[in-house]
This record gives sequence, C-alpha cells and structure tokens, in this order.
Amino acid sequence: MKIRKFGLADLPQVMRVERASFGAASYSSTTFLAHVFRDRKHSFVAEDERGAVVGYALVRMNLGWLGARRGGITSLAVDPPRRRRGTGRALMVQALEYLAEQGVGEADLEVEVSNRAAQSLYEVFGFRRSRLLPHYYGPDRDGMRMVVNPRDATRGRGGCGGRAKRAADG
Ligand SMILES: CC(C)(COP(=O)(O)OP(=O)(O)OC[C@H]1O[C@@H](n2cnc3c(N)ncnc32)[C@H](O)[C@@H]1OP(=O)(O)O)[C@@H](O)C(=O)NCCC(=O)NCCS
Repeated sequence: MKIRKFGLADLPQVMRVERASFGAASYSSTTFLAHVFRDRKHSFVAEDERGAVVGYALVRMNLGWLGARRGGITSLAVDPPRRRRGTGRALMVQALEYLAEQGVGEADLEVEVSNRAAQSLYEVFGFRRSRLLPHYYGPDRDGMRMVVNPRDATRGRGGCGGRAKRAADG
C-alpha cells in the first residue's frame, strides 16, 4: 500500500470509495466535486499493490485571520474490504504531516457523534473534542468538532480525519 497525492484521474475511484463508505449519506456529486476542486492540491489517496485506489483523505487549507494558516480534514474514507489494515492511519499521518509542514497550528475536523470507528482513529492521533455541533448531520444526528496540533499528532503517534455531511447536502 502506498500513499500519494490525489490527481484528477483518481476521481472515479475516489467516488467509488465515497459511495461504498457513506451510502445514502454520501456527498452529492456536486458537493463532492466542489470539495475535490478546492482541496485536490492538498489531498491524498491510498493505492493498493495493483494500483487501485482504496482510500482517500481530502485535506483543506485556508488563510485565517491576519494570514494565520488554518487547515483540517474535510473527508477521510477507506474501502470497506480494506479496513483495519492501517490504511486510515497511513492517510492520516500523511495529511497531518502535510498540515504541519504548511505551518498549521491547529487542525480540525467534524465527525458524527455516533461514528465510534472514526473517533477511535482520531484519538490515536490525540485529537480532542472541542465543540458539540447539534443536528450537524441532520435531525437528531449530532456532530462534534475535534482539534489537534498536527506537529504533536505526527510526533510518534499517528493521525485521523472527519467530514461534514449535512442533511442539506442532498
Ligand atoms: C474511519 C476509517 C477511515 C478508518 O480506516 P481504517 O483503514 O479501517 O483504519 P486503520 O486500520 O488505520 O485503524 C487505525 C486505528 O483506528 C482505530 N479504529 C479504526 N477502525 C476502528 C473500528 N471500527 N473500531 C474501533 N477502532 C477503530 C483503531 O485504534 C485502529 O488501530 P488498530 O487496528 O491497531 O486497533 C474507516 O472505518 C472508514 O472509512 N469509515 C467510513 C467513513 C468514515 O466514517 N470516515 C470518517 C468520517 S468523520
């Protein structure tokens, strides 16, 4: 398994992983494409031994107040048959190393409160809960914002990501 930068040619395979991972809660194609076009220069895919894309991490970078660099993980997913083999961890390491290199002091992500698998991965990297986001993913589906210093997270631990899937996403 290898982690490399996302390229536009990866889009069909990334969308396959997206649909297999999130089903009815997947981003609509339009929303997903908007994220991809915004984030593609910072994002990563995991490729298996045959060159098939088996996971992705969409990483965002923004200029914050007074030019401070801000960033986080917009979405992270691994193809269901490939899970629990370290792919999510490897994608997270790469994403957090990138954010650290870019000078981001605090990386953030959103995750559904009920998504214990993703939170377990994030906790491996030292993400902590910063804010509850009531009904963020739809009625009675709360989200949570989690944050970490990417420099601390990649120092000997591992990493993690998340995504926002609002009901309004369509
Ligand atoms: C979350 C996700 C990306 C994890 O990918 P993965 O490749 O299976 O993760 P890894 O194998 O690298 O797991 C690393 C660590 O995370 C934790 N973890 C991952 N999946 C877990 C699960 N289902 N239950 C408990 N802990 C889990 C474990 O600590 C694991 O280490 P271990 O296997 O040595 O115990 C994957 O489950 C996924 O794509 N889920 C659906 C999409 C999603 O929810 N994305 C995040 C949105 S916020």
